[in-house]
Amino acid sequence: MSTVYLNGAFVPKSEAKVSVEDRGFLLGDGVYEVASFYEGVPLCMDRHMARLERSLAALRIDFDVEGIDGVLRELVSRNGLDTAERSLVYLQITRGAAPRTHYFPTEPVEPTIYAYAASWSRPPQDAWDRGFRAITVPDRRWMRVDIKTILLLPNGMAYQDALEAGVDDAILVRDGVAIEGTHQNFWGVFDGRAVTHPESNLILAGITRGVVLEVADELGIPVEQRAIQVEELQHADELFFTGTTGEVRPCVEVDGSKIGNGRTGPVTHALSEGFLRRVARMKEAATAATP
Ligand code: PDD
Repeated sequence: MSTVYLNGAFVPKSEAKVSVEDRGFLLGDGVYEVASFYEGVPLCMDRHMARLERSLAALRIDFDVEGIDGVLRELVSRNGLDTAERSLVYLQITRGAAPRTHYFPTEPVEPTIYAYAASWSRPPQDAWDRGFRAITVPDRRWMRVDIKTILLLPNGMAYQDALEAGVDDAILVRDGVAIEGTHQNFWGVFDGRAVTHPESNLILAGITRGVVLEVADELGIPVEQRAIQVEELQHADELFFTGTTGEVRPCVEVDGSKIGNGRTGPVTHALSEGFLRRVARMKEAATAATP
């Protein structure tokens, strides 16, 4: 039985209960984060906490994130995941429980804080080398997807469309632009340059995206942050996604057409290896810092 964290206490999952008046349940009025741990060491926890603070501020949910990173670490330990190659924590904060109104509660309410930990795994190397497939789907989300809200119905519908089409993810398209995946950022490689959508209200500023930008810089791979038109996809040398639970994930086919030579390309490969080296360095630093 897994242990979860709810409103200040670690409890068995079966005992964790949330009010039916929770505004997350009724209205999707909340934010979340997903952070990965490698053998119990969190990757970029400070950046996840900073993004969480921005999301909370955007929704005007009054919650101090101070100390919550320690809770997440403890959750990983309590679930026996300190030695897991890869694990993650999911943290959700909603405005809290109050009689249903479209406007915010007029009386102060305590936010609801819920977190769980789970293990996850990278796909086998041969599957990764073969690459993954995607379809394009209209981006039906609201115009503030830079805020990491729990309102994920359009993402879920697009992902479901992809699974029912027999592929691995959907690329969300708005006004002719390939914006991002359903739960990952999206990149193309054109003439040796790695291209990804600039930070704006139209994408989530992925933590993995940020790390991969730094890895590209270290490796001397030129980067362009600009919109990728859907018509460009067929001319890309490589395509890939980045995200906490996907790391760097090659995409070799879109809407049934092969990209490049139809295999995972060299830039995607180099960035993925660079990302994994970064993880290894981070783990070494954490081990060295342990008394
Ligand atoms: N998804 N874009 C969207 C729409 C996302 O939902 C995510 C993350 C990303 C990548 O962000 P990051 O690198 O910080 O994980 C981009 C999380 C993992 C999820 O919903 O489970």
